[in-house]
Amino acid sequence: MTHQGELADDEIASIRANLLSWYQQHARDLPWRRTRDPYRIWVSEVMLQQTRVETVVPYYQRWLEVFPDVAALAAADEDTVLKQWEGLGYYRRARFLHRAAQVVVSERDGELPVEADDWGQLPGVGRYTAGAIASIAHGKRAAVVDGNVKRVFSRLLAIRESIDHRGTEKALWRFAELLVPASEPGDFNQALMELGARLCVPRRPRCLLCPVERQCAARAAGIEKELPVRSPKKAVPHADVVAALIVDDEGRWLLGKRPAKGLLAGLWEFPGGKVESG
Ligand code: ADE
Repeated sequence: MTHQGELADDEIASIRANLLSWYQQHARDLPWRRTRDPYRIWVSEVMLQQTRVETVVPYYQRWLEVFPDVAALAAADEDTVLKQWEGLGYYRRARFLHRAAQVVVSERDGELPVEADDWGQLPGVGRYTAGAIASIAHGKRAAVVDGNVKRVFSRLLAIRESIDHRGTEKALWRFAELLVPASEPGDFNQALMELGARLCVPRRPRCLLCPVERQCAARAAGIEKELPVRSPKKAVPHADVVAALIVDDEGRWLLGKRPAKGLLAGLWEFPGGKVESG
């Protein structure tokens, strides 16, 4: 795929300038945008991975009261960490954050990484998270591609292949790396995410308000609502479950801890299980 070759240098410059100035005027005032503390940016990026901004804000604030820095998080026990995460879902994220904090304390003398590649060495920190933290907290020229950014790029470049294909994804990362500017990369990356969250939305993109409408190949072709193209999703597994509510004379409820591996690993639940056929 050669999409990035289709954008001339002056178009790249316009996209950067228009996005940044739009962001400077329209960025939401979010708590993690008031800090450059890498630990705080890290926590926010992990929480935001599969969760909406409005849901994340109160969790983020409570988390920082309980675990104000990486040392406090590393010293906490796992149940305390999971309790703070309760309701956010995808508990693996909390476990990885906890384990990575312990690695930072035991192997890095409590010093968080600076470069995206070094962030990527920590447990649970993927390419997206590493790029987000390095660019936002440290002003490093590192790219980010998440679901929102994929949608924005698929329209900007009028990509008709599925954005879920490995090859397309690679091309999107290459484009992100080309596009991210050396100055203000963190604001630029957040501008892309913000555009995807607020204007370049899945069903009814608000193109009339878009700062890069004139550079958008999908808009020019009138196909913005048809993009991105996605591969069919795997069916979500379905199970019927039963649970018993067992309480003793003193009002104590019986709970069990789930196995350390697998679905909802290590979380507490009422005793029960899947209903087997027959
Ligand atoms: N989603 C992922 N990272 C984000 C950020 N920094 N601001 C808003 N939404 C986001």
